[in-house]
Amino acid sequence: MIKKQTLEILSHIQIAEDTFEVVLRSSLSKELKPGQFVHIALPGHMLRRPVSIANVNPEAETFTMIFKILGEGTRNLSKYKHGQYLDVILPCGTHYPIEELTISHALLVGGGIGVPPLYYLGKKLKEKGVNVTSVLGFQSATHVFYEEKFQQLGDTFIATNDGTYGQKGFVTEIIAELDMPIDYYFSCGPTPMLQAVTNQLSNQKGYISLEERMGCGVGTCYACVVPLKADPEQNKKICKDGPVFLANEVSL
Ligand code: FES
Repeated sequence: MIKKQTLEILSHIQIAEDTFEVVLRSSLSKELKPGQFVHIALPGHMLRRPVSIANVNPEAETFTMIFKILGEGTRNLSKYKHGQYLDVILPCGTHYPIEELTISHALLVGGGIGVPPLYYLGKKLKEKGVNVTSVLGFQSATHVFYEEKFQQLGDTFIATNDGTYGQKGFVTEIIAELDMPIDYYFSCGPTPMLQAVTNQLSNQKGYISLEERMGCGVGTCYACVVPLKADPEQNKKICKDGPVFLANEVSL
């Protein structure tokens, strides 16, 4: 059940170039599932900003979200400090349905601000006893974050567009070199990356999570629709039917 809450910021730190990690306290934290997002109101901005969930601490009733400065709204959000409060709608959207899947080895493929939800997903997969391999792409060395956290989940490979850290190039080049069986892949990142990854892994079962600028965030404004692959006349709403979809479900 989606609720609107006023949440205290327990921590607000910069973790990479233009990238911020915020910990919030919420009685709904334990209901947040990997892949879901929260929708944040900012003074002076009509539209809320969707931010994905990077981690949850159910005992402490806290969750972590990570965002990147993409415009004025997120720039304002970057100026908040611990002790301040945010108007948040949560939990929003669908999640990676890992409870229903039998998996022994999962491949996580993230790009940029698509990386955070994969960390919470990877943690949950590891708790289930799943082997996790992560391939993460960033613009450059200054944008890299959470590498050590992903390493605690399993083998982790980093690509940067400019080659200033890890392997120069794209995540798909690293995936091409991986030599191991996987049961499922889970990917989140910019649309061109998702197109490349879903093409490359078209023989594998997988789920993708779409990054999209949203309006209402709760399924009423139709600002976020994507056509179904099987029937392009039919649309899905990223905010409500997604952001997580089967890899071949929607047209990218
Ligand atoms: Fe309004 Fe998705 S953002 S329907």
